[in-house]
Amino acid sequence: VMAKVSLTVNGQRRELELDTRTSLLDAAREHLQLTGSKKGCDHGQCGACTMIVDGRRINSCLTLAVMHQGSEITTIEGLGQPDALHPMQAAFVKHDGYQCGYCTPGQICSGVAVLAEIKAGIPSHVTADLTAPTQVTEAEIRERMSGNICRCGAYSNIVEAMTEVAGRPA
Ligand code: FES
Ligand code: FES
Repeated sequence: VMAKVSLTVNGQRRELELDTRTSLLDAAREHLQLTGSKKGCDHGQCGACTMIVDGRRINSCLTLAVMHQGSEITTIEGLGQPDALHPMQAAFVKHDGYQCGYCTPGQICSGVAVLAEIKAGIPSHVTADLTAPTQVTEAEIRERMSGNICRCGAYSNIVEAMTEVAGRPA
């Protein structure tokens, strides 16, 4: 079954006609040529496909595009571009927060959303009781980033990059 889907992607209104079974990830990659978001597993296990949808990070492989009628979607292409990097992208470069880079778009989208979650005082599993909501500890970052797998093992450098963006000494 085909359906018309209207999405705002990286600030631009996009009208698509899609098979209703199309995931948000495939809509971006195959219909909008936004190939920054990666398909690692297509099963919600790796985080390579992470996008920010209406302010929250989600695994775009696990959700259908038709479920996001009217949503505001940000992919890595919308966060920054090579000549105008987002601060999180610049920090990943500075701290070597990647090796092969396959997980990186998802890590960066998650990283941006995670710092916003902490700032907003949204509790995590480790710190159900957030006594200092603006505190960005290594444990807090690692817990909240645990859905983003990196086969190259760049984790400690990712933590350093996020710590810098959060404005705390590394
Ligand atoms: Fe979506 Fe792995 S591709 S979580
Ligand atoms: Fe290679 Fe993360 S940088 S998987």
